[in-house]
Amino acid sequence: MPYPYQIKSLEEYRSAYKKSVEEPEAFWADIAENFQWRRKWDEVLNWNFKEPKIEWFKGAKLNITENCIDRYLPEMAEKPAIIWEPNNPEERTRVVTYARLHKRVCQFAQVLKNNGVKKGDRVCIYMGMVPELAYAVLGCARIGAIHSVIFGGFSAQSIADRLEDAQAEFIVTCDGAYRGAKDIPLKSVIDDALIGNKLVKKVIVYTRTRIPVSMIKGRDVWWEDEMEYAETQVEKDGVVSFPAEEMDAEDPLFILYTSGSTGKPKGVVHTCGGYMVWTNYSFVNVFQYQPGDVHFCTADIGWITGHSYIVYGPLSAGATSLMFEGIPTWPDAGRFWDIVDKHKVNILYTAPTAIRSLIGFGEGPLKGKDLSSLKTLGTVGEPINEEAWHWYDENIGRKKCPIVDTWWQTETGGILISNLAGITPSRPGWATLPLPGVQPVLVDENGKEITEKDEEGLYKGNLCIKAPWPGILRTTYGDHERCRTNYFATYENLYFTGDGCMKDEEGNYRITGRVDDVLNVSGHRIGPAEVENAINMHTGVVESAVVGYPHDIKGQGIYAYVIFNGRGTPDEQTKKDINQTVARIIGPIAKPDKIQFVSGLPKTRSGKIMRRILRKIAEGEISNIGDISTLLDPAVVDEIKNGKV
Ligand code: WTA
Repeated sequence: MPYPYQIKSLEEYRSAYKKSVEEPEAFWADIAENFQWRRKWDEVLNWNFKEPKIEWFKGAKLNITENCIDRYLPEMAEKPAIIWEPNNPEERTRVVTYARLHKRVCQFAQVLKNNGVKKGDRVCIYMGMVPELAYAVLGCARIGAIHSVIFGGFSAQSIADRLEDAQAEFIVTCDGAYRGAKDIPLKSVIDDALIGNKLVKKVIVYTRTRIPVSMIKGRDVWWEDEMEYAETQVEKDGVVSFPAEEMDAEDPLFILYTSGSTGKPKGVVHTCGGYMVWTNYSFVNVFQYQPGDVHFCTADIGWITGHSYIVYGPLSAGATSLMFEGIPTWPDAGRFWDIVDKHKVNILYTAPTAIRSLIGFGEGPLKGKDLSSLKTLGTVGEPINEEAWHWYDENIGRKKCPIVDTWWQTETGGILISNLAGITPSRPGWATLPLPGVQPVLVDENGKEITEKDEEGLYKGNLCIKAPWPGILRTTYGDHERCRTNYFATYENLYFTGDGCMKDEEGNYRITGRVDDVLNVSGHRIGPAEVENAINMHTGVVESAVVGYPHDIKGQGIYAYVIFNGRGTPDEQTKKDINQTVARIIGPIAKPDKIQFVSGLPKTRSGKIMRRILRKIAEGEISNIGDISTLLDPAVVDEIKNGKV
């Protein structure tokens, strides 16, 4: 058996869970034995949620790339590590074997070194979904540089903010990226982000679309030139090597920015040892991966799902990870099914938004596609509605594939609550049971545990976790206090997820959505304060308030209430200008779906915007607004109701 810690029955799950709670240190030490450490730990776990301070496998030394690559050589040299499917189906597929991955990662690590990157330096990666993105990520990990991948849909301004926050000195990018019918000019966005930046020393540019790019002497270098030279350094007599940096288990591996209910995005920090163990353990158990299976996670590596379940989880398990450059609806809505058919995909992991958008095209795009290789289906990122679940089950899984509904967050590093495919029962709309090591608790506003069932026999409350699991975030980059106040200060001694949740008598969990103001649009986290700040940058805007509303495909849409005092009467053109402003400041993903111009916002006497009211109106619950007597100007509510778009 390849993974001794792979749970094979409900009983095994129960006993693993029990042990993980009663003897967490012994439990995780056993699992950690299955990895390659240069030196073992002195202590398995040391923690308090007060500061917070969380250390897993303290004193242990490792390099995660040795666990993702070297340990599978030479036995699996010819086995595919990454199968890459290009945006354009006419273009050639690339198969990257473990031997080839090793060579490319060593080469790129050498490139980084040649360009002055050292252990602990921050390297920002802004690329399309090409294998070189995986090489860049792993190359950083190999030399101990901290990567910070930024999704290709973020604007120059967003990148500039992140570069500044991370104090990054290096960038890896592409000339452009293909996504469906679009070519996205990534390098040009980077050039804009670098105006006025004094810190960035080097930009490494991989050529993908070959659109014209400006290349600045002394700063910008071509990936291809650098790799060619590095090849002569890392390959001697046919043997490839680049010594991996020895990392402490608690050294940072990466920073990934994510949005909260207030302020700018936070740089969530994950560390080498715990993150590795957690992504691997959750990957092997939730998807029930078997050697030889082709795992297709449709996320972008710019998000945590891509980090954990395209790169680190699968590769650390010696798996074959399919990486797709394009989008589900191009050249037509059958693209996912073509890929499943062509590459004989066994595990498909996608977002409810993608499923809902494909439902809209009917069963036509499925005709003639052989989906019989599929064994396991998964969803992530947002609650899945029952209709989408059943469509996925019937049309894609042909009622033979377990569906894992995986609940987790950027901060959790990997999946925390999910059924285990074919091992523990699945249930539409329910993430079901916590993984071993995860101790959820539902609390009320005061942090008191919910112990009473409601009339439906369910416990309902805010979802917290009682104790650390190896993949929990350690800090928010450059601002530990922000990490504490955001996640560990709402309720004493608990990690607060920001999600609302219900639990049944058997201990199954169902996530109901965010209880803070954070929006979840197409499975992407968007901070309302960020969108408001962007809207307020428009010259004519005085003030704005942003809330979510139910959207058939995206799960949630963005509804913006805007007070406008610019030239003329605001109209459709003004809305477009506002959208354009948001696209510039954050990126196209944060553009409001609806904009309503209002003369005032419902505020309390202390000046706080009553979002509850705005949310109700955006949701169309006009008759059920609730108490508005505490408002400074209750009349404004009628005006807003009447003007709803
Ligand atoms: C939501 C994505 C319901 C949740 C991995 C969480 C989900 C936020 C699920 C994190 C699920 C994620 N069911 N809701 N299976 N998975 N969410 O950081 O609100 O991009 O807090 O991580 O997505 O989003 P993030």
